[in-house]
Amino acid sequence: MTDRLPDEYFDDVYADSSDPWGMAERWYERRKYSITMAMLPQQRYRHAFEPGCSIGMLTERLVERCDRVTSYDVAQAALDITRGRLGDRDGLELVRSSLDAAWPGGDVDLVVISEVAYYLSEAALRRVLDRECPRLAVGTTLLAAHWRHPVADYPLTGDRANAVIGETAGLTPVAHYLDDDVVIDVFRFGPSESVAVDTGVPGAVARG
Ligand SMILES: C[S@@+](CC[C@H](N)C(=O)[O-])C[C@H]1O[C@@H](n2cnc3c(N)ncnc32)[C@H](O)[C@@H]1O
Repeated sequence: MTDRLPDEYFDDVYADSSDPWGMAERWYERRKYSITMAMLPQQRYRHAFEPGCSIGMLTERLVERCDRVTSYDVAQAALDITRGRLGDRDGLELVRSSLDAAWPGGDVDLVVISEVAYYLSEAALRRVLDRECPRLAVGTTLLAAHWRHPVADYPLTGDRANAVIGETAGLTPVAHYLDDDVVIDVFRFGPSESVAVDTGVPGAVARG
């Protein structure tokens, strides 16, 4: 098993369609993006890292909540479509790179792994998480969202991808969403308190 689906696989996908997963059109996707964004515990983030941005539908939502967004994709066509849709926005950086390459360092306080981890082998996914998560600042939010139905070409199921991510040392579970179609998990790197505790809602009790 190679470490990940080859980049040419995705070049071919975008040669066939400029929106291969119907992300711009489907109510399914718009609803899922709304759930994803609602699950993020902080109102604002300094710097989001989003590997596998595709045509930038989730990127567009992230730029509303984050001062900076760095998005990777292995397919140049996807990055070009995203740039065409979103334009040259301050704080948005689009990079041709892979989830298993080095993640941006510095002030990243949000990592959004949405519909991309299942393209890696389990060993490659574990390797990149074990290498990159210890570099995250304490308190960084990491969200993982993955399709649960089987796809023959993909090395991992969505459930397995989220489970592997959840086994990474140092990640504290914060929130979990599950339906027949998608699993979404939110973690914090290091200790974590609830949104109500963090924002001082009266009566909210700290985990301790
Ligand atoms: C299903 S789309 C997900 C788009 C977006 N994250 C979302 O949730 O709507 C998957 C994207 O991941 C890209 N991709 C595939 N393997 C990748 C990898 N190893 N690293 C980064 N991007 C990858 C593909 O080119 C494609 O654009």
